[in-house]
Amino acid sequence: MEKFSTSGPIKEKNGVFITTYGCQMNVNDTERMFSLLEMSNYTPVTSADQASLIKINSCSVREKPVHKVHSEVGRYRKLKEMNPNLKIGVAGCVAQQEKKRLIADIPLLDFVVGTDAIDQLPELVNKLDREKQVSARFEYQKPYQIETLIRNPGVSTFVNITKGCDNFCTFCVVPFTRGRERSRKAQELIQDIQKLVDRGVKEVTLLGQNVNSYKSECGADFADLLRLVATETNIQRIRYTTSHPKDFNQKLVDIMQEHREKVCEYIHLPVQSGNSQVLDRMNRNYTREEYIQKVKMIERAIPGVVLSTDIIVGFPGETDEQFEDTLSLLDEVSYESIYAFKYSPRPFTKAAQFTDQVDEQIKSERLNRLFAKHDEIARKLCKKYEGQTLEVLVEEVNAEGRAFGRSTQNKVVHFNGTNALVGQTVAVKVIEAFPQTMRGELKN
Ligand code: SAH
Ligand code: SF4
Ligand code: F3S
Repeated sequence: MEKFSTSGPIKEKNGVFITTYGCQMNVNDTERMFSLLEMSNYTPVTSADQASLIKINSCSVREKPVHKVHSEVGRYRKLKEMNPNLKIGVAGCVAQQEKKRLIADIPLLDFVVGTDAIDQLPELVNKLDREKQVSARFEYQKPYQIETLIRNPGVSTFVNITKGCDNFCTFCVVPFTRGRERSRKAQELIQDIQKLVDRGVKEVTLLGQNVNSYKSECGADFADLLRLVATETNIQRIRYTTSHPKDFNQKLVDIMQEHREKVCEYIHLPVQSGNSQVLDRMNRNYTREEYIQKVKMIERAIPGVVLSTDIIVGFPGETDEQFEDTLSLLDEVSYESIYAFKYSPRPFTKAAQFTDQVDEQIKSERLNRLFAKHDEIARKLCKKYEGQTLEVLVEEVNAEGRAFGRSTQNKVVHFNGTNALVGQTVAVKVIEAFPQTMRGELKN
């Protein structure tokens, strides 16, 4: 989980500065908060010392990001001493989880706003002028109106199709911070996506904690939605994330294949562990064998598909042999990238109560072994791209003429180009490929 800094043009009055941790849901929520605050006379600024309102959009998926919130608030102490009118708030999943306790624990904080209360933000900020230290954690009343609230959608943008999660994997705090799963209406999504296209967007990523369990009021499931987005909008490229293996089915693969000119051949399919007993204790609802079967189904239908995954090491009770099963899965499934984490006990979750927690030292060793093994695999896998010509959607070109974009396989490609290329899909020949990025040459 990276930290993103989101900013905009500089003005002095009522500056708002937001830092964002965690997943794409938070990145989208930050955009939404900027939009709401802009309507309330705030202007995004590029650094904390220009702001009269500072917000930290927090993540609580693992312990590290939670610590970061506390240390970041501490860093603003000086600014607060210099400017007593400065307001500091925490939004996002830590806010939702800790609520008023956060205010009690951190005296520097003026407000917290939970993930369900973002729409109440302008009201909350007004209230701040009247009473010190407020918090909000109301239930969302209205569905998102994402279209109007994306400030500068750019070439590629994310669109929430669901909110929350009902899966209750035993390690995961998300069902507690994002609440029950709700799907947006298919027709509303189609309209919003077409409006984004009209504003210049070329690629959308449909976003949810488990997109495969999407269900519209009209009865459309995720595969139907994908077909609708492909056929009823003029969007050029469609991606989606995150898929839960238990809900990934043949119908979805068939629709991806049917609309392959628009739906990108890249799937993030978090496995979490390569051992069926561990998967069972994680409440993932699939076995190692079922997961591998689904991967084969995908590879049969979508030639050249690129897969990535999430893995947790040191889940409570994970033995050396069970961890070896995760290592050996890397030989069976060719992941071009992996996101791997040490298990971190989270509040409210079942696994935090398990009595067979794994030693930190062992978790670190397992993580290192996993990364070392995957590095070797990824370095070999990426070589196949050298000499290939990829279709790259150009996202940015800097002043020195260095361009970057993504291929349909979600590969980041750097090459020399001009500003006029932004938003265009161009053919780029790969000269040198690394696991994370590639260097290429524009083809005429
Ligand atoms: N909805 C997605 C992932 C959400 S969280 C899914 O179902 O896959 C992103 C990733 O963080 C997870 O896939 C998992 O690998 C990791 N993660 C979640 N909780 C964790 C915990 N308690 N400790 C370590 N990693 C965790
Ligand atoms: Fe968490 Fe599992 Fe839901 Fe993903 S599917 S958000 S890991 S509970
Ligand atoms: Fe973190 Fe919340 Fe996303 S816990 S991963 S920001 S849903």
